[in-house]
Amino acid sequence: MDKNAKIYVAGHTGLVGSAFVRRLRAQGYHNLVLRTHGELDLLNQQAVADFFAQEKPEYVIDAAARVGGIRANTEAPAEFFYENMEMEQNLIWSAFRSGVKKLLFLGSACMYPKQCPQPMKEEMLLTGLPEVTNEGYALAKIGGQRLCSYLRRQYGVDFITAIPANAYGIGDNFDPQHSHVIPALLVKYREAKQNHAPSVTLWGTGAALREFIDTDDLADAGIFLLNHYSGEEPVNIGTGEEVSILELSQMIKRITGFEGEIVTDPTKPDGMMRRLCDSSRIHALGWRSTVSLEQGIAKLYRWYLQNQQEGVEPC
Ligand SMILES: NC(=O)c1ccc[n+]([C@@H]2O[C@H](COP(=O)([O-])OP(=O)(O)OC[C@H]3O[C@@H](n4cnc5c(N)ncnc54)[C@H](OP(=O)(O)O)[C@@H]3O)[C@@H](O)[C@H]2O)c1
Repeated sequence: MDKNAKIYVAGHTGLVGSAFVRRLRAQGYHNLVLRTHGELDLLNQQAVADFFAQEKPEYVIDAAARVGGIRANTEAPAEFFYENMEMEQNLIWSAFRSGVKKLLFLGSACMYPKQCPQPMKEEMLLTGLPEVTNEGYALAKIGGQRLCSYLRRQYGVDFITAIPANAYGIGDNFDPQHSHVIPALLVKYREAKQNHAPSVTLWGTGAALREFIDTDDLADAGIFLLNHYSGEEPVNIGTGEEVSILELSQMIKRITGFEGEIVTDPTKPDGMMRRLCDSSRIHALGWRSTVSLEQGIAKLYRWYLQNQQEGVEPC
């Protein structure tokens, strides 16, 4: 991509979209087109078509979605399916109609079958049913990936899909009702430190293995793919680094400075024992993660402490 290229980042106020904006600007891409949800509702087909016809972006990064945890997905599968399908279709179709040169669609690891062999390879998509709790979301995301690949097959457009691992980073949600595991643990250990608690109890055995990617790293990989990948097959974006929930807790204990003990509670469920994206495809293309998990979490914790006091915006 030329540094003057006109790039539309959809969902730029979100966790992942804001990281793309930071990374693009840091790399010298200055001609960004941004619209908040209030300025452009991606569910409004006509408004999206008008926006593309008027702005004519050359590149599009689709980081807009209705995103939520297990509870939100279980309670509202209809909205998670409908809104994500609708947003993707409006955006991807208008991008196609207006002659966008290249589009990056962001999928999610929940698109993979629940029983997927680990680590999850891109070719395992659609080989089984996704986890039932977020099926509506997963099917909508699979729909977006398929639409990009059909457009490529039929019309030769360069629309690609990336499937990132679990992400964390600046701008993350620390609200206990909605937070992901890393912000939730940061808050838990910080409170334990402040309250001089003797111990923190961890649900499960702590043996379950997970993979996390810093959003700045994720954005770097996404820009790399825009510059170096054209193909129908999606590309996983992960670190290849697995961590057990107990190791993650020990890391967060160090970062927050909590001095008590970590106690596991094996009577509580572990969830899936392993969930890892196979990142060999993006590694073969020449990209590798550069932010270690401990560095990334320390950066997020500094941002959180500063943000709490000063109300800093993510971008
Ligand atoms: N977070 C992760 O761990 C992770 C991992 C892998 C992949 N991803 C993918 O990355 C993408 C973004 O995720 P995220 O975690 O950054 O989510 P997020 O923080 O909730 O951001 C979603 C963005 O989409 C916007 N949006 C939602 N509905 C919209 C609408 N109708 N019209 C216009 N804008 C709308 C939101 O704006 P408002 O907030 O104003 O509604 C926000 O800017 C998703 O496709 C997700 O599957 C995320």
